[in-house]
Amino acid sequence: MITEQLSRFARLDLMPTATPLEKLERLSAWVERDIYIKRDDLTPLALGGNKLRKLEYLAADALAQGADTLVTAGAIQSNHVRQTAALAARLGLACFALLENPTGTDNPDYLGNGNRLLLDLFEARVELVENLDNAQEKLEALAARLRTAGKQPYIVPIGGSSPVGALGYVRAGLELAQQIEASGVAFSAVVLASGSAGTHAGLALALSERLPQLPVIGVTVSRDEDQQRPKVQHLAEATAALLEVPLPAAFKVRLWDEYYAPRYGEPNAGGLAAIKLLAAQEGILLDPVYTGKAMAGLLDGVGRQRFEDGPILFLHTGGAPALFAYTDAWSA
Ligand SMILES: Cc1ncc(COP(=O)(O)O)c(C=O)c1O
Repeated sequence: MITEQLSRFARLDLMPTATPLEKLERLSAWVERDIYIKRDDLTPLALGGNKLRKLEYLAADALAQGADTLVTAGAIQSNHVRQTAALAARLGLACFALLENPTGTDNPDYLGNGNRLLLDLFEARVELVENLDNAQEKLEALAARLRTAGKQPYIVPIGGSSPVGALGYVRAGLELAQQIEASGVAFSAVVLASGSAGTHAGLALALSERLPQLPVIGVTVSRDEDQQRPKVQHLAEATAALLEVPLPAAFKVRLWDEYYAPRYGEPNAGGLAAIKLLAAQEGILLDPVYTGKAMAGLLDGVGRQRFEDGPILFLHTGGAPALFAYTDAWSA
């Protein structure tokens, strides 16, 4: 049912093929548990990552509304802002971004390398703000200024996590369900990073219809379970409403919140160890803000027997450009 409903929405076809689903042979031997990975870090734009899937729907919406400028916001090292700016360049649109420094670091690599360096190459126009509390208000004020200057701005929400953006992960969930069915593997769980929640909400919505026995576990990267749960739940409900489908009976928000401390955007020992392990065992790059912490959760979950029997599937959502911004994390 979701498949037919989804096909009614306009989408830019920027991902002509499915991202790979692979077994991590050496990591599996290392942890004595079969671990597979879905490579959404390999989406085909500007060093990849999960946001391209959301932007396929958001940018189609922007073009349908006659926009000539994408406006968005995030951390200085936001992967979302990097992918939005790259897509704006590709589509011949301008891009304006409000950026915050969530940890207050003055590491020059955080302030100018990694994702931030790439924003300049894409010719994004950047404004630093004190914080992104009331982000929607700040984005609307910027859009109003741009309109006065004769532009046609389209606001891309933080992380691309509106119901329209989450459609990208509904589509990803359908793609993944097909790959899982073709593989014949009986997975015990899917694990992913849960931040602005569009990835988690969209994927869990689609999988709860297609593979209702398969738990989707979000490892939080910015807030505790009590704050994250309503974000994921409400976004899934709003996305289902946009699709005009009921929330499937099997839909359930599952969160692990022990792995993001001390706070969003600040690396921790478990996340850094997970980055090193994946690099050394598999030649795969995770990141210090999202996927390193999510993988730390997966590995700890295996150690503490938090999963049912069976192989585990990790959704790699990208983020490796931030490795070049967190150069000081390794010496601490
Ligand atoms: C690399 C990476 N992984 C995961 C996420 C989290 O996705 P979401 O914001 O949809 O929860 C983000 C979002 O910024 C990201 O950049």
